Amino acid sequence: MRPRKVKVFAPATIANLGSGFDVLGIAIHQPGDIVIAERQPAAGLSFAVRTKHLDVPADAQSNVAAHVAMLMLDEFRPPFGVRMTLDKRMPIGSGLGSSAASSVASAVAVNALLPRPLEKKDLLRFAMEGERKASGSAHADNAAPCLLGGACLIRRYDPLDVISIPIKQSIVWVVAHPHTFIRTEDARNMLPKAITLQTAIRQWGNISGLTVGLAAGDVALVGTCVEDAVAEPVRANLIPGFAEVKEAALGAGALGCSISGSGPSMFAVTSSIRTAHVVAKAMQKSFGRAAGIGCDTYVSRINRTGATILWTKSK
Ligand code: HSE
Repeated sequence: MRPRKVKVFAPATIANLGSGFDVLGIAIHQPGDIVIAERQPAAGLSFAVRTKHLDVPADAQSNVAAHVAMLMLDEFRPPFGVRMTLDKRMPIGSGLGSSAASSVASAVAVNALLPRPLEKKDLLRFAMEGERKASGSAHADNAAPCLLGGACLIRRYDPLDVISIPIKQSIVWVVAHPHTFIRTEDARNMLPKAITLQTAIRQWGNISGLTVGLAAGDVALVGTCVEDAVAEPVRANLIPGFAEVKEAALGAGALGCSISGSGPSMFAVTSSIRTAHVVAKAMQKSFGRAAGIGCDTYVSRINRTGATILWTKSK
């Protein structure tokens, strides 16, 4: 019997991993968003948001989770409607893949209710539409790892080709989320429209090194290769205290540090849980000292599972 009600968790992600703008991302374990969805007799979507965060769009027309759900209901026309509650735990504009988490959680939840559900990987195109709604661009470097787990390489967008990188779990990732906000759309609009061949060579060397390092579990190689010659030089200016926080992370033992997604969160690469906690403290202190802002930190290995159904009810 197909589920009547379902609860889904979708995790935060680190997109770009520094050098891999729009092509690389990993899932971590926390934070994440939750969606509860159930069949309702009336056609269409009934939508509500529960959150402690400000600025989360609450109406179905503006929220990405609702947008994704409506696209799926329009396409598959099941003989029921959906009542959905988004438990919006992640702040928006954080660089943690917040819009992707809501979009993915919604897609997985609606899919679970459908009479003939799709395979997980086929939900990516819906989640990417959520990203388009949130930022004007249907990038997949948050949505793919959020949905599928692990480390994803978006080798190509048209047609879409997503490769799951076979990873070794030797890296411990630190994410520091300062309490400030950056609109992804703004952070994208400020990027250069063209780069020099010299910059491109440096960048694709690093991206290749990153994929090798992730697959080999080579922490030092991954740390070196997060170096980003394209987005970081421009976007760093949007993050108060960026240079100091990066220096603090490296000084505390991180092997690499850059911007998570479009920021303001920053991530660091470390080789042990112990070092990761020292680095997290150093980054947090540095955001306070250099910019006078509070900061949450997360320490995580790569989350291999991605979005998960927490429970279903059939009756
Ligand atoms: N690749 C995207 C960007 C991730 O950097 O704009 C943010 O959602």
